[in-house]
Amino acid sequence: MKKEFKIPQRKPLMIDMGRIEEILQEIDLTGEPPQDEHVRQYYFIKKNRMLTDALKAERGRELTFHVNTFGCQMNAKDSEKLSGILLASGFTETEEEDADFVLFNTCTVRDNADQRVFGRLGRISHYKKRNKDMKIGICGCMMQEASNVEKIRKSYPFVDLIFGTHNLYRFAEYLCEILSGDQKVVQIWDKTDQVVEDLPSDRKFSFKAGVNISFGCNNFCTYCIVPYVRGRERSRDAREILQECEQLVRDGVSEIMLLGQNVNSYGHDLEDGISFPELLEEAARIPGLRRLRFMTPHPKDFSEELIQVIKRNPNVTRHIHLPLQSGSTRIIQRMNRHYTKEQYIALVDHIREEIPDAAITTDIIVGFPGETPQDVDDTIDVIRRAAFDNAFTFIYSIRRGTPAAGWEQVPEDQKKVQFDRVLKEVQESARRQSEKLQGKVMTGLVEEVNSQTEGYVTARLSNNMIVHVPGDASMIGSFYPIHLEECRGFYYFGTICEDRT
Ligand code: SAH
Ligand code: SF4
Ligand code: F3S
Repeated sequence: MKKEFKIPQRKPLMIDMGRIEEILQEIDLTGEPPQDEHVRQYYFIKKNRMLTDALKAERGRELTFHVNTFGCQMNAKDSEKLSGILLASGFTETEEEDADFVLFNTCTVRDNADQRVFGRLGRISHYKKRNKDMKIGICGCMMQEASNVEKIRKSYPFVDLIFGTHNLYRFAEYLCEILSGDQKVVQIWDKTDQVVEDLPSDRKFSFKAGVNISFGCNNFCTYCIVPYVRGRERSRDAREILQECEQLVRDGVSEIMLLGQNVNSYGHDLEDGISFPELLEEAARIPGLRRLRFMTPHPKDFSEELIQVIKRNPNVTRHIHLPLQSGSTRIIQRMNRHYTKEQYIALVDHIREEIPDAAITTDIIVGFPGETPQDVDDTIDVIRRAAFDNAFTFIYSIRRGTPAAGWEQVPEDQKKVQFDRVLKEVQESARRQSEKLQGKVMTGLVEEVNSQTEGYVTARLSNNMIVHVPGDASMIGSFYPIHLEECRGFYYFGTICEDRT
């Protein structure tokens, strides 16, 4: 169901329009495109402006765009950059997929993510039949797989632009090419060493934001496609990260999430880099930053120092997402995850001792090659002993090119039976944990109007739990003390206790 917001939650641009105009004024379009990547993209944004102005005059109306994001927070963050470039190039955003420019930012972590994209592409072809001038682009992780690009070129020939994850920062340039003529643009790189900063970005929420701390992953879990589609781990300079956080807080953001595929290996690739716990503590000290989250840590790198940094900084949220994947040591090793069942449980016990109010959530895969019902017994044992506050449970999905794709697979019906066992256990654990909070008063940040229950808004607690409370759109972005009244499994219905905090 589509969400309806009474007031717009969007902030126009992270690099505010004033600054973009200043930068654009200095760009000289008479010369060749500049070599410096950063200036070069502003050169193309300025060119796009001229092209969109001409098209708007010709059609006598605004030009609209729509970005559809599939996948994780990293993709959502990329989409903010893509939207920023489109806004700076003269487009206006619309919630409808029937826009002048539609861009799909794709995910390929599991097969159902791929299928969702193909389904939407099928639908969008109807819009293009009605609006011949419509342009369609597709980018993101799925495009790093040659077979997907081939399939799109053959079966969805109406797609005008295809690019991948490594050259996302070149989007303004590609947009310029498709706006200037009728030729298709297909640009896929197999790697990059560039981290291009400071391009326009259109933040989805005014009060919370994600900040990339690293790109890519070096872990090569044997089931996972991410290292192949996102490349090797590249950490951003700590000063750049902290400056971006400070800027966001100045702009009114009260919650920041530090993003990386494996945040606690941050900095290992930098010559004089600081560690993740050091970075987290520096960020936590930014005056006015009320909440600091991070996603995702790897259990093998979760250090004592990190636990202590979280413990002594109350604005680091009381939520630790600690992907388990499997509770069987044999399977964990085959997954190339480098911990044992016992080590994982000991880590959770230690976190619970040191930070008792932290919620611990996890990801679990069921049906990994070679997994027996006895291995799943181990996973269930860990769910009980770790007392997870919530978990995402996935059925293993074969990803071509990963080691596990070539191993003997678990039959589909067995996967389904085991998945149901795990899901039931996870739901019971989440309920048991949630019920412990019954009657408590906790601080919630109101995020959005509830689309299901009229007259309600949805708030998030520091421990990541969702609470629905009576309210209206004027409360979005503010903190309130909330009385947790009615537990509904892993979320609550509650009421605001008094005025905002
Ligand atoms: N870097 C993060 C997130 C990776 S993707 C991490 O290490 O946790 C998010 C989740 O998708 C993973 O935690 C895993 O549970 C799941 N996942 C990844 N590949 C998968 C596959 N091939 N089949 C099923 N689930 C998968
Ligand atoms: Fe994939 Fe493992 Fe890297 Fe996470 S840590 S992105 S699961 S390879
Ligand atoms: Fe999906 Fe790519 Fe994220 S594969 S999970 S969008 S890194």
